[in-house]
Amino acid sequence: MTDNDILLWDETLFKDLSVLEPDYLPEYFPHRDSQLDALKFALKPALRSVRPLNCLLVGPPGTGKTSAVMKIFKEVEAHAPNVVVVKVNCQIDSTRFAVISRIYRKIFGISPPNSGIAFRKIFEKVVNFLISSEKVLLVALDDLNYLCYEGGHTNEVMYSLLRAHEQYPGVKIGITGIVNDTSDLYCIDSRVNSIFLPEEIPFPKYENAEILDILKDRIKYGFYPKVISDELLKLVVSYVEKTGDLRIGIDLLKRSGFNAERRGNRTISYEDVEKAYEASKLLHLCRGISLLSYPEKRLLELIARKGEIHAGELYKSFHELTHLGYTRFYGIVNRLQMLNYVDADFSGKGQRGRTRIIKTKYETEDILNCLERS
Ligand SMILES: Nc1ncnc2c1ncn2[C@@H]1O[C@H](COP(=O)(O)OP(=O)(O)O)[C@@H](O)[C@H]1O
Ligand SMILES: [Mg+2]
Repeated sequence: MTDNDILLWDETLFKDLSVLEPDYLPEYFPHRDSQLDALKFALKPALRSVRPLNCLLVGPPGTGKTSAVMKIFKEVEAHAPNVVVVKVNCQIDSTRFAVISRIYRKIFGISPPNSGIAFRKIFEKVVNFLISSEKVLLVALDDLNYLCYEGGHTNEVMYSLLRAHEQYPGVKIGITGIVNDTSDLYCIDSRVNSIFLPEEIPFPKYENAEILDILKDRIKYGFYPKVISDELLKLVVSYVEKTGDLRIGIDLLKRSGFNAERRGNRTISYEDVEKAYEASKLLHLCRGISLLSYPEKRLLELIARKGEIHAGELYKSFHELTHLGYTRFYGIVNRLQMLNYVDADFSGKGQRGRTRIIKTKYETEDILNCLERS
């Protein structure tokens, strides 16, 4: 090691750390052209003051759904003074009152009076503003499934927004829903379902070459030259590929950089990446787990505590805990399996034929840690 390899105490490997922050909206946003086009097509009528199409963005975490909407909303906001765009993070604003308040704040620049005022009242103020100012409202409901958890909120929010033009002639509202999977819309009732017929826009997992391309761009702007070698970048990509969650890749780069800095070194080493992965992999798991519904979390917890459990025994505990029936139980087991948290095998053992054994695919401790944080 030469002196040149050693970092002085006030030096850094990062040219621009903000490029590696999770909410950074990059200029370069490749491999999502068809999704961006579909979104533009659906929202375009708004620019001509016509009610736009409703959309549903569907795809696993870290596939660019939120960023895609933010990019389009930013463009609309810059070019269309007749359109109001509001992105609601339903994980934060998870009740009908919170959602409509968020919209109200964007329009009026102040919070609605929060004591004793009903959803309907605030909604009417929003609608009256839209009519009198002849503006179109585009609402993105990000991680829409969160509205399901506290019962009824999704239906009232969606129904009000979707039916607004019938109840208040002249009002124009478009909804863009964002979910990980269409089963996230389980709580939507038939009343809403019959009028919410969105353009579905799929966001598939990124492939190896796409991940590499996107991360290279972040490295170019985030780090000084030669901080990470091509080999180590490949290692990072291979970690991202396991889950397809780009957020992990960006987080891994940042943490690896910090690890190298902590050692006072100018370049990232293999150990820096490995160590970073221990933390970053939990990021994906915890984010995924935080997006589960309450009964899904409880079932995952039951499985994790046992490590491995027979379906019958599991159902019994689950039912005692949540009072939910077999159909929901079966649906949730399948969902957890599809999300890769559990394996549900049929073993040939046992006298009464095949028994379903359900096992976790992660360390019990990691799952319980994430559940505790969520
Ligand atoms: N096509 C892309 N090009 C550049 N960065 C991307 C792309 N897709 C996703 N990202 C980045 O990956 C991270 C996760 O994206 P995000 O839009 O939050 O995903 P999702 O909403 O699907 O979970 C963000 O930091 C985002 O900037
Ligand atoms: Mg998102």
